[in-house]
Amino acid sequence: MINCRDCIHDCSGAGKNEKSLIIIKPDAVRKKLIGEIISRFEHEGFLIENMKMVEINKELASKHYGEHKGKDFFNKLINYITSGCSVAMVVSRENAIKRAREMMGTTDSRKAKKGTIRGDFGEDVTINVVHGSDSEESAKKEIKLFFG
Ligand code: RTP
Ligand code: MG
Repeated sequence: MINCRDCIHDCSGAGKNEKSLIIIKPDAVRKKLIGEIISRFEHEGFLIENMKMVEINKELASKHYGEHKGKDFFNKLINYITSGCSVAMVVSRENAIKRAREMMGTTDSRKAKKGTIRGDFGEDVTINVVHGSDSEESAKKEIKLFFG
């Protein structure tokens, strides 16, 4: 058996597809929302290219959210993202980064529109169900961080 991402087939299509790193965060795993969230991405035409359950430790969390070091919410964010298992996945489609963030809704779940993932399942600005890369540069960095 070989790891799917190393296979010879180009499942992602003709190379015009963009990749994003999505994390289904610990609150969503606890609420048994993994399937619901993956379905939403698949229904929007995303291909799940790689996926794993991961218990994010403080070191990985600090690297992933390094841009927020020094902000007043940093410790709260790290405590939350390390509070249980997450699911990390590489997804792809055209305009994946922008479309994923539209589907996720705004950072503060209380302000996110109904029909978005955070608007439907999130609790507040910290407990907000999902992460999605915010640029091509971040996506590349995050995919490398989680999947090598
Ligand atoms: P994410 O990186 O998780 O996809 O979220 P985002 O782009 O929508 O928001 P970002 O500004 O990158 O913030 C990263 C995570 O930090 C927590 N946060 N708390 N004011 C606050 O208390 C605050 N602001 C941000 C959230 O968990 C957010 O997802
Ligand atoms: Mg962000």
